[in-house]
Amino acid sequence: MSDASAGKALAASTLAGKRVLVSAGPTFEDIDPVRFVGNRSSGKMGFAVAAAARALGAEVVLVAGPVHLDTPDGVTRIDVRSAAQMHTAVLGALPADAYVAAAAVADFTPRRVSEHKIKKTAGSDTLVLELVRTPDILAEVAAHARRPALVVGFAAETHEVERYARGKLANKRLDLIAANLVGGAQGGFERDDNALVVYWEGGERQLGPAAKTEVAAQLVQLIAERLQA
Ligand code: C5P
Repeated sequence: MSDASAGKALAASTLAGKRVLVSAGPTFEDIDPVRFVGNRSSGKMGFAVAAAARALGAEVVLVAGPVHLDTPDGVTRIDVRSAAQMHTAVLGALPADAYVAAAAVADFTPRRVSEHKIKKTAGSDTLVLELVRTPDILAEVAAHARRPALVVGFAAETHEVERYARGKLANKRLDLIAANLVGGAQGGFERDDNALVVYWEGGERQLGPAAKTEVAAQLVQLIAERLQA
């Protein structure tokens, strides 16, 4: 079922009095003092969501992984590097009325960080890194005693987008999930435009394709509608 209310313009005070928490960008998981495991994320989508929420009058806290982006006007930014730091910062920023998890959090992190730069060893062509799971920040926020009224996840999928996205919506107990197809020609990473399908129980809405700033404005409009409902 798609819904017909898309496109309704909202006033600049629509989210006044609401606190919106956004996480954005990648996380970097250190291996040693000069190397890390990271992932492909520019942070543009999350920063655009933060700016769009601010434009509708919300108080916005943006927890940002390592990105090269300017802080949107009027937004409080907390910079982090690792998934563990993002976890602490996001939970520490609760309570909020809405949480939008747009970060590409590393799913695994090295079990230990080497104090010194790991050297190449003569006669050995391999290096084995032991990785452990990181906390699922989004699922924790959704299950938290101070759960925001609206918890929004992102799902970047290479195939079977709706099935995997709806699986995450249910498993992580989210209110909305914004899914996009990644990889191939339409990949959403490191680009200025994007197309999302937002799913919720019993409905969906297509956003874009358009500039990430426009897609973010449409997503925040949907969030505002849901918070008012
Ligand atoms: O399960 P998957 O990683 O595909 O879910 C993506 C969603 O979960 C995104 O909203 C992402 O920000 C969030 N996530 C998280 N903590 C993790 C992994 C993903 O908050 N460790």
